[in-house]
Amino acid sequence: MHREMAKGVYYIGVDDHHTKLFENLWELPFGVSYNSYLIVDEKIALVETVKGPWSSEWIENIREIVDPSKIDYIILNHMEPDHTSSLPDIARIAKNATMVYTSKASDMQKSFYDVPLKEKIVEDLEEISLGGKTLKFVHAPFLHWPETMFTYIAEDQILMSCDAFGAFGALNGRHFDDEIDLDLVEMESRRYLSAIITSYFKFVQKAIARAKDLGIGLKMIAPSHGPIYREHPMWIVEKYDEWTRPELEKHCTIVYGTMYGYTHRLAMKLKKELVDMGVDVRVHNVSYSEMSKILVDSVRAGVLVVGTPTYDAFPFPKVWAFVNEVKGKRFPANVIGLFGTYGWGGGGVRKLKEMFEEMRCEVLEPVIRVKARPTDDEERQVKLLASDIAKRLK
Ligand code: FEO
Repeated sequence: MHREMAKGVYYIGVDDHHTKLFENLWELPFGVSYNSYLIVDEKIALVETVKGPWSSEWIENIREIVDPSKIDYIILNHMEPDHTSSLPDIARIAKNATMVYTSKASDMQKSFYDVPLKEKIVEDLEEISLGGKTLKFVHAPFLHWPETMFTYIAEDQILMSCDAFGAFGALNGRHFDDEIDLDLVEMESRRYLSAIITSYFKFVQKAIARAKDLGIGLKMIAPSHGPIYREHPMWIVEKYDEWTRPELEKHCTIVYGTMYGYTHRLAMKLKKELVDMGVDVRVHNVSYSEMSKILVDSVRAGVLVVGTPTYDAFPFPKVWAFVNEVKGKRFPANVIGLFGTYGWGGGGVRKLKEMFEEMRCEVLEPVIRVKARPTDDEERQVKLLASDIAKRLK
């Protein structure tokens, strides 16, 4: 199916209700959309392709509007395969099309697909006229890879923003912000942002500042995943702006693992103390909370507290996986509390402390290490840690 967004501009993307894990990592309870757009003017331009298995459905969407062999330009904003793995299929049909992308995207295209189409490398802010409509290309590195760009239709003031301003969740025929439950969009866009773009928050801030500097009008924001914003295009820009600021949020997030309940006991004691002190607390047990939800609450937490039992002389594996996300995604959160339990050697908390110190985080005292079950003295240490956290979040 397709939807007209403006005269001669169409949504032709697809819904994925099949993939359980985006990037084989992040849960998709509501599916995901791979958005693609068609601009029909004197020349015909396709903006983005879709993930390979959805190629036939997507090409049918194009056929509803034009003969795909007549496409003049294939604009590739981003080379990640969820955007491009159907490129070889459309290249076999649109044999006279020219691929339009950045020079870094050209290298990636050759490595991934090497399709035998002409190419046009576009510089930042370069334009192409389709006849009545003008496409302007705005380089947007690291949103989400280094080769990424946005495509802007000047006459319609539509920004095709690639992964920026995207969200998880299939669209199911409700393609626009005024047709969809925005509470769900808010949750799924923040989960998407935290999972995919945490490492690149500063590039989101730069892109928003740049759009302001360029003074480009925005009547519609059309990302590559999730709804198109036509009623309130600035809603998603403001949300992304708020969620990617460098300032930390005024809450404490406790992320912990537990095998037999002793580390859980410390986590609950700490939570109770913090709640009694009036602190906004979020709690995640790594065995039950999905990682992207843990990230939403922890990426910018004013204080992040991590608790672990010792498992084979290391932190509990799912806690270790979380801490590796903190490291890999270069979290802004950098004030850390630590607690944990052990049966004999006690490497779990020790390894966490080393890891956070290596990351130049501030590790709060006391670091609580408990042999087997917590004693009254150790519960007093939890109180001390809670007081320090409360003071810092005031
Ligand atoms: Fe939607 Fe970076 O891929």
